[in-house]
Formats: sequence, C-alpha cells, structure tokens
Amino acid sequence: MPDTVLSSPRPRVLSGMRPTGKLHLGNYMGALANWVKLQDAYEGYFFIADWHALTTDYADPSRVKLNTLDVALDWLAAGLDPERSTIFIQSHVPQHAELHLLFSMITPLGWLERVPTYKEQQENLTGKDLSTYGFLGYPLLQAADILLYQPQFVPVGQDQVAHVELTREVARRFNSMYKTGVFPEPEALLTPSPKLTGTDGRKMSKSYGNTIGLTEAPDSVRGKIHGMSTNGQRVRQTDAGDPDLCPVGYLHKIFSAADVAAATQRGCRAATLSCEHCKVEAARQVDAVLAPIHARRMELEGHIEETWEMLRGQSAKAAARAEATMVSVRELLDLSHDLGSIKRHFTASAEDRQRDHDLSAQAAWWELETAERSRNLRDYWQKKLVPFEIPLAQESNRVFTSLERELEEPLLTPKKKRVFVAAPQQAEGDGWTFAVPPRSYEVWTLLCWQNQDHWLRDFVVPQKYFAQAFAKAKKTLKKDEAVPLTVRKDGARFLLVIHENEPVEISDLESNYDPLR
Ligand code: TRP
Repeated sequence: MPDTVLSSPRPRVLSGMRPTGKLHLGNYMGALANWVKLQDAYEGYFFIADWHALTTDYADPSRVKLNTLDVALDWLAAGLDPERSTIFIQSHVPQHAELHLLFSMITPLGWLERVPTYKEQQENLTGKDLSTYGFLGYPLLQAADILLYQPQFVPVGQDQVAHVELTREVARRFNSMYKTGVFPEPEALLTPSPKLTGTDGRKMSKSYGNTIGLTEAPDSVRGKIHGMSTNGQRVRQTDAGDPDLCPVGYLHKIFSAADVAAATQRGCRAATLSCEHCKVEAARQVDAVLAPIHARRMELEGHIEETWEMLRGQSAKAAARAEATMVSVRELLDLSHDLGSIKRHFTASAEDRQRDHDLSAQAAWWELETAERSRNLRDYWQKKLVPFEIPLAQESNRVFTSLERELEEPLLTPKKKRVFVAAPQQAEGDGWTFAVPPRSYEVWTLLCWQNQDHWLRDFVVPQKYFAQAFAKAKKTLKKDEAVPLTVRKDGARFLLVIHENEPVEISDLESNYDPLR
C-alpha cells in the first residue's frame, strides 16, 4: 500500500467544479455547503476542473488560472479543510489526462453523442464553436476524474447525473474488457437543493447578473438584498404575501434561525411585517453566515502564495493516489513501465526458467480474486510458454509449434498438483493436436494457440475429463509413446478427443483456472 489513504475507513467522495471565478450563493447551496458537511463522515477529494474549462473557453484561456485560484479561495473560506480533504487542481494531476486517453480507446462515439448536455450546450453556447473533439470528450474526462480515485459517491446536482451514469458505463466496460475489478461503479449523491433564486427572481446565474457572491463584501450583500425582487408580491404593503413565492422568503428559509424564519413568514402572510423590515432581517441573517466566510477570504487573500503552494502540495498528494490506480491500469493494458517478465524471453537462464515454471513460486497470485488470477495465468502462458516465433513448415499451410523443452516436466501448483501444460504440435484451422507423455497428471492445460491472430484459447482440464480415456489410450500404444489428442472447434463447442476415444466437451473449461488451485 503506497499510503494510508488507501486503507482509510471513511468512505470516499469525489467532486469537482469548473473554475468560473468567485462563487455565488447558488454554487454554495448547490454544492459547496454540502461538501463542507460531508468532510466529517467522508474522505473527500475536491478538485478544480481547469481542463474542463478549456473545453468551452479554449479560445481565451487567459482567466483560467485566476478563476482557479478564486474558486479555491472561496472553497477554503467556506470551510473546505485541507487537513481533512484533498483539495487540488485537475491539470496538476496528469493522470487524469492519461486515463482519459485510455478510456477514449474503449468508449463508443455514440455513448458520448447521446449525453444530453452535449447537444444542449452546443445549442445554448452559440457564441462558441463546440464541434470539437475535446468538448465531445467532456464527460469522458469527467469519468476519468472520478474513477482515478475509486470513490463510492460523487456528490453532484441533478444536471450531472447523466455524467455519473456514463462514468458507471465506462467502468463496467473497462472491467469486463480487461477482466478486472479495478473500477468499482460510483454512485451519484444528489445534493439536496433548497430553492434559491437570484436578486431578480430568476435562477441565480452569472450570465443573468443577478448573483449574490459567497464572499462579497457585507455592505454590498446588504444592498443587493434590499433591492431584491419580491416576485411582484405586496405592491401595496397592506396586501398579504406568500413567502413560499418570494426570493427574500427563500433567503430566510436557508439562512435564518428557525424562530426568525417562522416569525417573518407569519408577518408576511398577515401583512404585519413590511418588506423593508423583512429584508433588513434577511440581510442580517445572511450576514451572520457570510461575514465569517468573507473574513476568511480576506485573510487568505493576504497569503496567496502560501495558498497556491498548498494547492500544489495537495495536488501532488492526489497524484500519488491517482498513480496507484494508473499502475494497475497500465499493467492491465501491458503498458507498465518496467521491462518485467518479457525480459526473461531474451535473458532467462535455464534455472530461472525452471523456477518460472513452478507455479507455486507465484505465491501472490493465489490470494487474488478469481478474475485477476486468471488474467495473470493467461499472461504467464502468453509471455513465458507460448513461443513467440513459430516455425512455419514451408511445404504446407500447417503451423508447427512446440513449447520449450523444460515443459516436458509437469508444473506444480501450490497444492502440489501435477499439471501438464502444452502448446499444440499442430494447429490447423479449428483443430489443435497435442502429444501427452504417458505419465500421471492431475490437470491438463491445453494452450490452443492460433498464430494467425495471436489468439490464445486455454483449456484447464481436470483429471475426471481425461482419466479413463487416457488410461485406455495408453494401453493400445507402445510403452512410453506419447498419447495423441486433439481439441476441435465444433460450432460453438470445443471437443477433446483422446486417441480413439469418444469426444468430450470442454467448452466450459476455457480460461477456467479453478482446477489449478
Ligand atoms: N462537470 C462538472 C460541472 O460542470 C464538473 C466536474 C468535472 C465534475 N469533473 C467532475 C464533477 C468530476 C464531479 C466529478 O459541474
């Protein structure tokens, strides 16, 4: 284990935001406030998705870094805590890009084209040309962001659920394609979102110019609340109002102490409280929550360099965690950086090879999950046992293969089962011919190697499939003469024929390594 992060008992959550600059109350209530709470019970990974910003703002990247820092300062001001959570910058962790690239190999175009945000955003952001490769890949980069850290939950708003769904599909496809469990499927953790609108009663959004900043100066917040829309209600102050329809009413529900909220609601419905007073009270209550956040922001702005260094340090920590995932992923795609076992193909001494062929030397494998163990074994056959160069007989289209001589000795499993392993002496179309020395084995492993497409079909055959027929065959052959057998593809089935015996179906034994345990 590279660090304690991996063995942390807290379930992991991960989420990110694009760097759009300072946050407003909508961002706070829709995400950040929830993240701050989650930090107690969860191990949090929170990052600023600056590469995602470039998918739409590539033409003018000049504000990305400033916006990134602004978001980070607001996060810290609001209470995200680098002692408890990992707070980092996406582009400082290049593993995100590497995993995105590898995912792009296995992701069908249609999956990305039908993500709802793709068409919607292309239609809505008309000022930008979004017919780019990067923009299409937006949700796939997000899948990489998430899966790198193997979180159980992704706290997001409703608008991101389709992206988490795609992430789950990518995880499933990767796991099944490479027979691994490296990417558990994360779940969206929907952020509870109380109703909050901008100062004009529409959705709070930068593009409407109706926001209240999370770390805006208290005076300015007060002024904005005083000028807020009441949604057309109580034009005459003697009219009763409905606080459930009023943007100021929403502020009370979110920010006011319960008794204050209840009193203002009563006063609004009974027309005994003026909007003026209601707003003064709302401003006071909002201020009580925002003033300390604003003060922390001011304090942090006095230490910009330390804050940036902190983010770099946290990003390095995130990268170490991400690298642990990438090591497994590279291994699965045969991209690991060490020369590893292929070196043996060129340099192994006879003793090395002897040791290699003793499966009990691979002690660590037997602790692994079934799927991973099978993968290792297949790897092992492929790298160590299947000849790389296969002599072609000139005079016919038959292909002759043979294993290295050592393999005439059986392999031993950890439980000392004797295993005969063989590559075919001949492979022809859908038939493979083997010669088995007439000794006693508990398992046969028949490597049906098709050298046209480098496809390996491996059958691990337990004794009960061959014991009788093998004994019978031995009797009719000369002493010490190898027993000929074939594996034949018959439609979708695979049949094993042992010298003049009835065929036995072995389809189910393909890649089933249980008998080797
Ligand atoms: N797409 C998200 C948004 O617009 C931001 C994001 C990028 C994200 N990567 C992520 C969110 C990973 C959660 C997890 O809000």
